[in-house]
Amino acid sequence: MEWGMKNRFSRIMNAQSGRCVMLAVDHGYFQGPTTGLENLGKTVEPLLPFADALMITRGALRNWIPAEMNKPIVLRVSGGQSILKELSNEIITTSIEDAIRINASAITCSVYVGGEHEKQTIQNLAELVNQGEAYGIPVLAVTAVGKEMVRDARYLGLACRMCVEVGAHMVKTYYCQDFQKVVEACGNVPVVIAGGKKIEEKAALEMAYNALQDGAAGVDMGRNVFQSDNPVGMMKAVKAVVHEKASVSEALKIYKSSAK
Ligand code: 5RP
Repeated sequence: MEWGMKNRFSRIMNAQSGRCVMLAVDHGYFQGPTTGLENLGKTVEPLLPFADALMITRGALRNWIPAEMNKPIVLRVSGGQSILKELSNEIITTSIEDAIRINASAITCSVYVGGEHEKQTIQNLAELVNQGEAYGIPVLAVTAVGKEMVRDARYLGLACRMCVEVGAHMVKTYYCQDFQKVVEACGNVPVVIAGGKKIEEKAALEMAYNALQDGAAGVDMGRNVFQSDNPVGMMKAVKAVVHEKASVSEALKIYKSSAK
């Protein structure tokens, strides 16, 4: 990696554990005011001290996040579709100049393998990688899964490997059975997991724990943190699993004992 790319990357990945806890709050880019993110700034503020990086759009950043905050930004630079229409119809919405202006530590878009607009989303990723390589900005590829796709190691392995081959510097995907095969398919490219829809806190922590055992480099969680009845407790618990090698029961104790 070139120096600038390496430097930005190291802002996201914790140097000691080689892992990362990313907080995803970019949901509004296709699903509007998502539960828990109506007042995004209020939700994010108490969580930020426990996150290594924030995944967010430029609009949300400029509206709700003070520029003085000092966490690396993983900037969602794609959009164009809504939950009302075909989800794979995604375009790049943000110029590389604006990402640089924002001081993004990484840029991100989704790839819909098997989706109606599969090729368009791969082109989006390819374009971002070309720009990222030119300016030293790592690219996180998100493997978005259409309703009809099965979230198994075969499909997610295919989608993740395609992102790696196009040049993504990090991949975000869903946890599944035989997840180690998905990680293996990505070679040296770090894989982080999304949390997906809100589930019981214990199940979400188990998922994070198991993903790490299977070789994930961390999490990029959203709803399972900010839709929890104790978001700060959940954020601390996830952080303990990722960085402090906490067991699920230790992490649950942290979640339960943290002040709301
Ligand atoms: C959508 C995204 C979201 O940021 C992310 O997947 C949401 O995180 P979570 O599933 O944990 O709420 O990338 O494609």
